Amino acid sequence: MICLGLESTAHTFGCGIVDENCNILANEKKSYVTESGGIHPREAADLHYASAKTVVQQALEKANLKMKEIDIVSFSIGPGLGQCLQVGATAARALALGNKKPLLGVNHCVAHVEIAKKITNAKNAIFVYASGANTQIIGYEAGRYRIYGETLDIGIGNLLDSFGRNLGIGFPAGPKIDELYFQAKNYIELPYSVKGMDLVFAGLETAAERKIPKENKTDLAYSLMHTAFAELTEVSERALAHTEKKELVLTGGVAASKALRKMLDEMCNARGAKLLVPPFGVCTDNGAMIAWLGIVEHKAGIKQEISETRILPKQRTDDVEIIWHN
Ligand code: FE2
Repeated sequence: MICLGLESTAHTFGCGIVDENCNILANEKKSYVTESGGIHPREAADLHYASAKTVVQQALEKANLKMKEIDIVSFSIGPGLGQCLQVGATAARALALGNKKPLLGVNHCVAHVEIAKKITNAKNAIFVYASGANTQIIGYEAGRYRIYGETLDIGIGNLLDSFGRNLGIGFPAGPKIDELYFQAKNYIELPYSVKGMDLVFAGLETAAERKIPKENKTDLAYSLMHTAFAELTEVSERALAHTEKKELVLTGGVAASKALRKMLDEMCNARGAKLLVPPFGVCTDNGAMIAWLGIVEHKAGIKQEISETRILPKQRTDDVEIIWHN
């Protein structure tokens, strides 16, 4: 069984082709990037429309398959930017209807979790999904992926990019800022904000930006990251402690950060747990994770009529019934 999956929640239009053992036969993408690092939904959607056909063709060529050899088509139904989601939904409907294939709209966050679980072979894990727009600590319980903690304002990736832009290190700031982390000498005091199990980053961002003219840039970058990652690590540890799980899976674009991996790894080691991180190509937004969730849901017997595949820009991780979990 082979599924072709389309991802288009935000910056990336991706097409992945995956078989039922989660072998990734293709994982092609085209991403919208701006100088400032921000996203203009209309412009991103226009780029997705312009790239969709080529990206799908590239994926089929890479997998050495024809559309008639694909068994299922899936796409990100939400959460995401409406205009961007609409491109993937339209392209997926055209592919499914034109080739008489079943169509499944799947949740983007659940797709991150499911492919990370499969590739790391995690059995009973807490998932940290840290990306530009999302930051969630997730665990399976009683038929849903529950969100044990999440950001109440911006995603941790947006925090890093926005601070990096103001520091003058360009976009994306992630790789460069991660180097600075390991060169710093001093911690500069910044506000630390954990509310129960949730995280708040906007105050931290404002406080750090106000200090840019006065402080050493390397130390400031380190201090911002150290504070934000410590908040995320604290909440992740509490989720592990509460659930007594022994695996922590890190995914999302911020999984590329060596600094974050180091901090989570130290926390896991200290409590006899294990940190698992999939290869970066499946952590960041990609079509293969959407294709894999298409296979998982299809095998679980889930079917959707075309009329049920309307995009759901605000669909949450815990809105989805997980009937396939064992
Ligand atoms: Fe994502």
